[in-house]
Amino acid sequence: MPLRNGPGGYGVVTKVLHWVTVVALVVQFLLGYGIEAASELLTGTDDSDHDEAAVFVHGWLGGGILVLTALRLVWRTTTPLPPWSDRLTSADRKVESWIERALYVLLCWIPLSGMALLLASGEVRDVAEDGEWVPPLDLVDDDVLLGLHVAGHVLFYVALAIHVGLAVRRRTLSRMW
Ligand code: HEM
Ligand code: HEM
Repeated sequence: MPLRNGPGGYGVVTKVLHWVTVVALVVQFLLGYGIEAASELLTGTDDSDHDEAAVFVHGWLGGGILVLTALRLVWRTTTPLPPWSDRLTSADRKVESWIERALYVLLCWIPLSGMALLLASGEVRDVAEDGEWVPPLDLVDDDVLLGLHVAGHVLFYVALAIHVGLAVRRRTLSRMW
């Protein structure tokens, strides 16, 4: 199978980047919703002083997803897109290309709002025994930044439902597999 995309379909690099992103996102969402449980696992204690110890693992993984997204965008500009599947109508193609753009925007928005929440909200977090994380900056209210982070998740679920819905309904999954 060729490395680059071509007339025959997506190449290995695009496919690997696509599915590595999917796996990293699944882990990241579970970690985000289960930050307390993950902190207990990480520190071996359910002491409330450690409630958010896993937030840095979450932050670094989110940074990794941002880097992966940048790599995907660079790769996408240097390799041609394959021809559309015959199974997609012209309306499907318009929807799919807008949804792909939205997914790329959200793959930047979510980690960036998370970084702002951790670094610039002034919100103090319990991360270790008698150890608190104090953000270096206090620029924007933490409720606003958490709202942006969570709004990004909701929009992401909507975009993903349309993206996966199209792939399943038009049976195009094999193009990315
Ligand atoms: C694609 C990347 C990311 C995803 C999918 C993601 C997902 C999530 C989710 C699902 C939550 C739980 C929200 C809720 O309880 O409703 C969360 C919380 C949080 N995320 Fe992220 N996140 C990402 C990147 C980041 C990054 C890069 C950082 C920081 C460097 C970060 C910092 C935080 C913080 C501080 C919270 C806790 C908010 C709170 O409960 O006060 N996130 N994230
Ligand atoms: C979880 C997050 C996901 C993101 C962010 C995402 C993003 C993308 C993007 C941006 C593309 C365009 C190619 C590229 O630039 O790499 C694409 C193509 C594709 N994705 Fe996803 N995807 C996700 C999940 C899924 C899932 C779960 C499926 C399985 C049903 C799927 C199936 C496809 C298919 C079949 C294509 C090829 C579309 C075509 O050209 O016909 N994606 N995806």
